[in-house]
Amino acid sequence: MPIRRVIVALSGGSGIPYAVDLLTALRDLGSASAPIETHLIVTNGAKQVIPTESDLGLKAIEALADVVHKDADLGAGIASGSFRAHAMVIVPCSAGTLAKVALGFTDNLVSRAAHVTLKERRPLVLVVREAPYSRPMLQNMLSASDAGAVIMPASPGFYHRPDDVATLLRGVTARVLDLLALDNDHAPRWKDD
Ligand SMILES: Cc1cc2nc3c(=O)[nH]c(=O)nc-3n(C[C@H](O)[C@H](O)[C@H](O)COP(=O)(O)O)c2cc1C
Repeated sequence: MPIRRVIVALSGGSGIPYAVDLLTALRDLGSASAPIETHLIVTNGAKQVIPTESDLGLKAIEALADVVHKDADLGAGIASGSFRAHAMVIVPCSAGTLAKVALGFTDNLVSRAAHVTLKERRPLVLVVREAPYSRPMLQNMLSASDAGAVIMPASPGFYHRPDDVATLLRGVTARVLDLLALDNDHAPRWKDD
């Protein structure tokens, strides 16, 4: 099986623990016969949020990924459609980054890689985080969805009775992994039959 390269971008929304859980799951899901290679980008906004939301610092989060790119590096391989990426997730996706994706405004590597993911018709999952949503954000979500992105709100379910934050996170991460077509048992399903 060819290597599956997944781009994971952290922007400055609240929800860094979702990103940590996804990066950990992607690291653990890969195997010798079905390898997964993660490419991480962290915006300056995310770097501001990380210390307030996670016991893991930036370096420890970067260590969960296989390749780390600078958000300013518009010459990175993942800025080109010729790079054989499987999919991209922006988690958390801030209102600002969502707006860039919706408009095709590509002034940093996160927005450029997302634009490339859309134009190449590859899966792009936006784990948006804001509450409540503004009208511009609602419009941008519709535009991004029309362009091919999946809007996946950081909105955990409760039917698997999460009794701690880790379990709550896993429910959202499992759905993201499903959207990437990565077989997983990261959280219980409602029914398997
Ligand atoms: C602690 C903290 C929490 C934030 N939470 C959110 C959020 O949930 N959603 C959002 O859209 N912006 C949030 N922001 C604001 C963004 O970080 C800010 O708009 C930033 O410019 C986004 O830039 P980026 O998309 O390039 O990361 C938060 C900022 C801080 C400091």
